Amino acid sequence: MTNNQGQRSSGRPVALVTGASAGIGEAFARALAARGHDLILVARRKQRLEELSAQLKSEHGAESHVIASDLGKAEAPRQVFDAVEKLGLQLDLLVNNAGYGSSGPFHTQEHEWEMGQIDLNVRALAALAHLFSPGMVQRGKGRIINLGSVGSFMSCPYMATYAATKAFILSFSEAISAELAPHGVQVTCVCPGGTSTEFQQIAKVEVEDVKGTFMSAESVVEIALRDLEARRPISISGWMNRLAVRLAWLTPRGLLTMALKKGLEGRFEKK
Ligand SMILES: NC(=O)c1ccc[n+]([C@@H]2O[C@H](COP(=O)([O-])OP(=O)(O)OC[C@H]3O[C@@H](n4cnc5c(N)ncnc54)[C@H](OP(=O)(O)O)[C@@H]3O)[C@@H](O)[C@H]2O)c1
Repeated sequence: MTNNQGQRSSGRPVALVTGASAGIGEAFARALAARGHDLILVARRKQRLEELSAQLKSEHGAESHVIASDLGKAEAPRQVFDAVEKLGLQLDLLVNNAGYGSSGPFHTQEHEWEMGQIDLNVRALAALAHLFSPGMVQRGKGRIINLGSVGSFMSCPYMATYAATKAFILSFSEAISAELAPHGVQVTCVCPGGTSTEFQQIAKVEVEDVKGTFMSAESVVEIALRDLEARRPISISGWMNRLAVRLAWLTPRGLLTMALKKGLEGRFEKK
């Protein structure tokens, strides 16, 4: 574990961002540094985190600590929590962002890769919220952002496990949001639709025909931070995604699933 100048954090608010080495997590780290936060950056690719840490220092004067961790491992959330305790830092904001998706027929997926989504998207996210929320409650303040998806609101054939992990995140976030709000802790579930990041490449999703509708990671983060500030439990990223979610609500569930199956069939690499 390192920080960008071998120093401990100042009196500025501290945000921990998982999956800060790319995409939406990196955009969160940059936006929060610009808003006066110090950062704890967590992901597997340490060099990327260290480069980001140096940039946050030079561009915004932010102190940031790097924790290289594979959050898919069962013991990792506890290790990250212990590392933060050891640094003597108290989190003002936890951004549970790290996640990935798989695509293609469920029964053809490589077992470890398929189950790894549950380990990372669900277990690590819930574990970090569980470890850090008691301190926030004790201090009477704190904020948690959990990354859901438009897929949180629907079952997605050919991304079955991924969408189900995101449904968990939405349900979980809404429930703990209601529990924690009276203790001064705000929880917001951020639900982006297609966003230009490394996600599609990793999930092996064909996106050429819909790329024009994608949002930037920076736009997703701006909307998320605005909704967090407004104490909204759910932040759906942009009007097109809000419309998609509204249509999903209005459509009978079985019909929606069959329509998605038809629409998504061609969008995945044949396995
Ligand atoms: N992009 C979209 O269209 C979209 C839409 C809806 C929701 N989302 C959600 O947004 C979140 C961020 O995704 P993104 O689009 O920014 O994807 P991304 O560009 O692929 O970034 C994913 C981040 O998660 C980290 N990560 C992956 N596996 C990890 C592990 N085992 N341990 C620790 N960190 C890990 C990656 O870092 P390392 O590889 O360095 O570990 C990376 O920093 C995810 O939860 C995703 O489900 C994305």
